[in-house]
Amino acid sequence: MKKDIKEVIVTEKQIKDLCVKLGKQITLDYKDKENPILLGLLKGCIPFMSDLMKYIDLPVEVEFMDVKSYHGGISSSGDIKIRMDINTSVYNRDIIICEDIVDTGKTLDTVVRLLRHRGAKSVEVVTLLDKPEGRLIPFTPKYIGITIPKVFVVGYGLDYNEFYRNLPYVGILKESVYDK
Ligand code: PRP
Repeated sequence: MKKDIKEVIVTEKQIKDLCVKLGKQITLDYKDKENPILLGLLKGCIPFMSDLMKYIDLPVEVEFMDVKSYHGGISSSGDIKIRMDINTSVYNRDIIICEDIVDTGKTLDTVVRLLRHRGAKSVEVVTLLDKPEGRLIPFTPKYIGITIPKVFVVGYGLDYNEFYRNLPYVGILKESVYDK
């Protein structure tokens, strides 16, 4: 896998530091809330959520939804599919959605609207990566690890055709991999 990476743009050390920083901030902001739900959007959230949650020093409930917008390839389809819904009621609950990346903004916009429609008390987003130049609709996550340029990245949860998620860092994929 490593031979397919052109450049590492977020290292393991940077990721660890960002998780500590974001975890502390969320702990501070939610200390007076009652049992917020940390909601991971599968599958990309897995490494980030499992690292971040260790630094949230609060009683949080951990839940997942499986939401898909990219159907292979390197660009978003914009067609959001909920493949597995959250397993508990969000009514009157404080929700923190945990994501690996916000790109076009369509996935988060759809999920945030849905949770609000279901009566969530509050809905915020924590994302490791933000790619604002990729936005097709306005969306501003409350908690951002790091802002990246408009490049196709993989690793630490992010895939190309379902591979590379298990790299411990975020890197730019060589064009030769998808230009075949
Ligand atoms: C990725 C990522 C976000 C979404 C962001 O998920 O995890 O959920 O795309 O893109 P957007 O801002 O353009 O909507 P994907 O649909 O690829 O599913 P995955 O997490 O299973 O890889």
